[in-house]
Amino acid sequence: MRKVLVLNGPNLAQLGSREPDVYGTTNYVDLVSAITAEGVSLGIETDVRQTNDEAELIGWLHEALENQLDVVLNPAAFTHYSYALRDAAAMLTKSGRKLIEVHISNPNAREEFRHTSVIAGVATGTIAGLGTNSYLLALRFLAD
Ligand code: DQA
Repeated sequence: MRKVLVLNGPNLAQLGSREPDVYGTTNYVDLVSAITAEGVSLGIETDVRQTNDEAELIGWLHEALENQLDVVLNPAAFTHYSYALRDAAAMLTKSGRKLIEVHISNPNAREEFRHTSVIAGVATGTIAGLGTNSYLLALRFLAD
């Protein structure tokens, strides 16, 4: 079965209790279950991970490159300033793999610093503002 890495950056394990007015009430465990179930229905094995550590997230993109895996990535706050994460994402997409940037909220409708994504320019595409459905829609695209 084809495998996709679903990678989450800082503070996303706090979903459910973290700013529910912005991110909704679905908690991280429920998000992982929904992603896993969507993967099963699409015939995709999903490996869902979260870290608060930039180096670990970059290491996971290197792992995706080595194993030639597509990635769904919510870079969280790293979206807005991590050139190191962007460089790792660029290596992956330039190698021919797909990387879909996802966001639960719509960063463009929020504070100005969130309007810049340093990842978007090297991502295959971006899905934002659709709540946790952003992840499920990214998986559907990858299944096509
Ligand atoms: C986020 C948006 C980012 O601006 C924020 O730093 C996050 C979550 C989202 O999913 O909406 O942590 O990536």
